[in-house]
Amino acid sequence: MSTPNVPCGLHLNSIDDLTGYPVFPEGTKSLLSKFNTREIWEKYKDKRDAYNVPYKLCIFSGVKNLDSGIGVYAGSHDSYKVFSDLMDQIIAYYHKHKPEDKHVSDMDASKLRCPPLMSDEAAMIVSTRIRVGRNLEGYPLAPGVTKEQRHEIMEKVVRACSTFVGDLKGTFYALEGMDEKTKNQLIADHFLFKEGDRFLEACGCNRDWPSGRGIFHNADKTFLVWVNEEDQLRIISMQKGADILAVFERLSRAANHIESVAKFSHDEHLGYITSCPTNLGTALRASVHIKLPKLAKRKDEFQAIADKYYVQIRGIHGEHSGSVGGVYDISNKRRLGRSEVQLVQDMYNGIKAMITREKEL
Ligand code: ADP
Ligand code: ARG
Repeated sequence: MSTPNVPCGLHLNSIDDLTGYPVFPEGTKSLLSKFNTREIWEKYKDKRDAYNVPYKLCIFSGVKNLDSGIGVYAGSHDSYKVFSDLMDQIIAYYHKHKPEDKHVSDMDASKLRCPPLMSDEAAMIVSTRIRVGRNLEGYPLAPGVTKEQRHEIMEKVVRACSTFVGDLKGTFYALEGMDEKTKNQLIADHFLFKEGDRFLEACGCNRDWPSGRGIFHNADKTFLVWVNEEDQLRIISMQKGADILAVFERLSRAANHIESVAKFSHDEHLGYITSCPTNLGTALRASVHIKLPKLAKRKDEFQAIADKYYVQIRGIHGEHSGSVGGVYDISNKRRLGRSEVQLVQDMYNGIKAMITREKEL
């Protein structure tokens, strides 16, 4: 028997309210609203993945937040398989990656072709950051992880991080018990994740906050690891200025080191497994904070250059934030089916084109 309709939106409090087929208002653009057909819903509505995460929870972020771009988070690696009728379509649409396609990784920084920028060009770049997301094999992802598992994961990551030497050596700081001032300063300085993301909140990723969360960083704060936010690990390399090669080299060294002591969730088709389907594959976002005051005034042209070079424009306080003082966050848009080297190259090519245009203007 098919279920009645349930109108989607912020009024829904939990998956218990999702008693029927979620119907989206006219104009909803999320990939969930596009692909969660009644047929798919009927097939999965009462199913759970291998870690007992319900289908309803995987789609609840998009059901509640009508402005989602995607609207779906995986409860575990298995979600991508058991809910494949939905997931495969989202992945094919977003990444142009078909079920038979393979993902290949390459973090060899020496293959990057990014000649140093001229000094006036480099001066436009405030800072450079590259992150990858990772999750440990054998655990559910953020929507499904228990408080105990989160602590186990944190202990494993802390142990792995304690084996860093040289410039990567650092200290772990638990979020629980961190004083407000330190925390807010770390967020303002772009070193720490923000709190209370409503997209993550809706699918249970913020449960038990701040328990089991934390940040590891080296003395210079050029190498950081976020623990148990959207993904179990976000491995981050960042510094002031425009030395993309140095940032990528450090990231690659750090990620390879952690991988030599911890097993990440990964497969041939999807690459590194992440809770959000947008991050699958490399889970890499290479960005610069860059001053483009003139180009930014020409919105359509700015966006056209971004589209041409496969880069994305964000504000400088992270996702869903705005520009401050004509500074933008420009990063690679693609994640899956292309190597890490290619994606950092995308970012370099994109900012090179934007800089050229800014100078002409
Ligand atoms: P993600 O971890 O997916 O990159 P966000 O876009 O929310 O998530 O960014 C996380 C944090 O990293 C934010 O504080 C953001 O300002 C900071 N950040 C991103 N790129 C840079 C950069 N090039 N320089 C300095 N900070 C950055
Ligand atoms: N779930 C949100 C949406 O669908 C965010 C997607 C991408 N961002 C992310 N941090 N995973 O719009």
